[in-house]
Amino acid sequence: MPYPEIRPRRLRRDAAVRRLVSETRVAPADLVLPMFVKEGLTEPRPIGSLPGVLQHSRDSLRKAAVEAVQAGVGGIMLFGVPAERDATGSGGIDPAGILNVAISDVVGEVGDATVVMSDLCLDEFTSHGHCGLLTPDGDVDNDATLAAYAQMAVAQAAAGVGVVGPSGMMDGQVGVVRQALDAAGHTDVAVLAYAAKYASAYYGPFRDAVESALQGDRRTYQQDPANLRESLREVALDVAEGADIVMVKPALPYLDVVSAVRAAVDVPVAAYQVSGEYAMVEAAAANGWIDRERVILESLTSIRRAGAGIILTYWAAEAARLLRESY
Ligand code: PBG
Repeated sequence: MPYPEIRPRRLRRDAAVRRLVSETRVAPADLVLPMFVKEGLTEPRPIGSLPGVLQHSRDSLRKAAVEAVQAGVGGIMLFGVPAERDATGSGGIDPAGILNVAISDVVGEVGDATVVMSDLCLDEFTSHGHCGLLTPDGDVDNDATLAAYAQMAVAQAAAGVGVVGPSGMMDGQVGVVRQALDAAGHTDVAVLAYAAKYASAYYGPFRDAVESALQGDRRTYQQDPANLRESLREVALDVAEGADIVMVKPALPYLDVVSAVRAAVDVPVAAYQVSGEYAMVEAAAANGWIDRERVILESLTSIRRAGAGIILTYWAAEAARLLRESY
């Protein structure tokens, strides 16, 4: 017999009481759906390593954005895949570039009903696949890249985006983007900083999704998975430079980072459940090894419990539907 009065199981005995005492809830509005749009497509195309995720055409992107909003997602994060790339990633800055036209498509369709965000990085647009411009020696040139990010931010804002997401991990990127937006009169456009972004092997399927040209790795600009204090430093810098929201990426393998960042700042904290996290669950579920829906919801609950108020996830629309049924 246990110590008689203390029986925690009383509060687990049925679904009603469990629901009453639940400490963490995930709401559809907490979820942001990352979406890919590829220049020149007439039909959406599946991505082999991300089953269920599509490279969209401009048309199918608009339709899928409407469906995601109907499901209740809190936002959409757009990524563009250009037909052609060059050394400076000029397609990211060009107002006629695929990401910029897709922003105005989606804003025109659902801009009043959800938060439209865009990835602000050069890697999808450069022929070498790096997140910035290269020096003649092949190093990623921090300050030359900042100038390109400033132009890209203004182009995305001009296309109507509500939130830009600088994800290239260049030093000073948030401050430069904030200044450029303000100077161009876009003081209302918010910055979601990929503040603590690790050089992670979990991005593998994403690189398929954007047909990345990258050879080598990003370890001179993305963070070492071994480091936590470094994330707190990156986050503090981004907040000082004007970040409105800070993000940790990936999510599940970095819940300690999410938790420490939540405790350290007073801006909203986001976490990105990245492509490899998604692909592992889909692969195991396809083999019948795990209960797919329960694992999805458990992973989202865990990321929320660790302290992320906003979660970017490729399951956003589906999870939003599941969560609405369970409320
Ligand atoms: C960079 C960017 C990447 C991801 C989001 N933004 C790729 C990278 O840093 O290599 C990865 C997202 C994912 O894996 O789902 N534009």
